[in-house]
Amino acid sequence: MLLEVRDLQVEFHTRDGVVKAVNGVSYSVDAGETLAVLGESGSGKSVTAQAIMGILDMPPGRITGGEVLFKEQDLLKLKEDRRRKIRGADMAMIFQDALSSLNPVLSVGAQLGEMFIVHRGMSRKDARAKSVELMDRVRIPAAKDRVNDYPHQFSGGMRQRIMIAMAMALEPSLIIADEPTTALDVTVQAQVMELLGELRRELDMGLILITHDLGVVADVADRIAVMYAGRIVESAPVHDIYKAPAHPYTRGLLDSIPRLDQKGRDLYAIKGLPPNLQRIPAGCAFNPRCPRARDICRTDVPPLFEVDENRHSACFFWRETLDDVDD
Ligand SMILES: Nc1ncnc2c1ncn2[C@@H]1O[C@H](COP(=O)(O)OP(=O)(O)OP(=O)(O)O)[C@@H](O)[C@H]1O
Ligand code: SF4
Ligand SMILES: [Mg+2]
Repeated sequence: MLLEVRDLQVEFHTRDGVVKAVNGVSYSVDAGETLAVLGESGSGKSVTAQAIMGILDMPPGRITGGEVLFKEQDLLKLKEDRRRKIRGADMAMIFQDALSSLNPVLSVGAQLGEMFIVHRGMSRKDARAKSVELMDRVRIPAAKDRVNDYPHQFSGGMRQRIMIAMAMALEPSLIIADEPTTALDVTVQAQVMELLGELRRELDMGLILITHDLGVVADVADRIAVMYAGRIVESAPVHDIYKAPAHPYTRGLLDSIPRLDQKGRDLYAIKGLPPNLQRIPAGCAFNPRCPRARDICRTDVPPLFEVDENRHSACFFWRETLDDVDD
């Protein structure tokens, strides 16, 4: 397994108290595999990614438990200089907002080239040539003429391609893309996703794709992990989830996206709001919003039940939820 996160726990110590952002997340990604991480805003998707990458704000953040095994090595036990080497070279991250992630006063070529100069000891001239090659690879038109342009001279979609080029410059084994297309319009979103998928295949990388858009993941992801209140509530191959969710929250997410095959049907909205992470409800964190909740849900925390060898659900009533699909 390329990356295996085990029982990860992250808290933030703020002036108003302790925010329990990640409460025992476990997921894994293999080489060549795309894992989509889904969940509403505040469910802990980004904080989990930051802990994996080693870019969590500490303080106020604190990792209070768990392991992040990357190529069988627990990253949480490594010294910062070792981690820094891995980050950038062997695992990289793509953020939503390219404009604030790129340096506004350096040309795109200089920023891409820097990767090769710092990590590979290349000359400035060779690094420049490599930058053009990378820009070509992410299909930026007229790369050679644009290598000296600054980030603000590119469109949003092109800037996102530059971010992708930066992330894959050193051919990492793992890329984490955190809402990489959210800021783009729909057609550009599709192009950027397609590019990401292609490069993932070419380089046989593992890809963690964080999104709250269930619509995007169907074509791109192999597996889905659904997060709620800092936990994984369901994880399964993408087709299984689309066919029949085994958790009421996943079901709610699925029912709330427009689907071409169900035109005309009223869109569903999950009632209520995600919990305050300083006061997560007792029992199943989803119980106040769950149409299926019973007494046990308000007292006991559901463990991740094995639905089958590839699939888990943190719901006492996963069987009933699965069976419900055709009603
Ligand atoms: N630096 C921080 N200090 C305090 N709390 C934080 C900090 N960073 C994140 N949090 C809290 O951790 C929780 C999880 O945040 P996270 O950013 O992981 O959510 P997310 O699932 O990525 O949401 P979104 O879809 O909006 O990006 C939130 O309640 C957030 O307020
Ligand atoms: S455990 Fe209970 S409250 Fe939680 S999702 Fe399942 S049915 Fe709903
Ligand atoms: Mg986020």
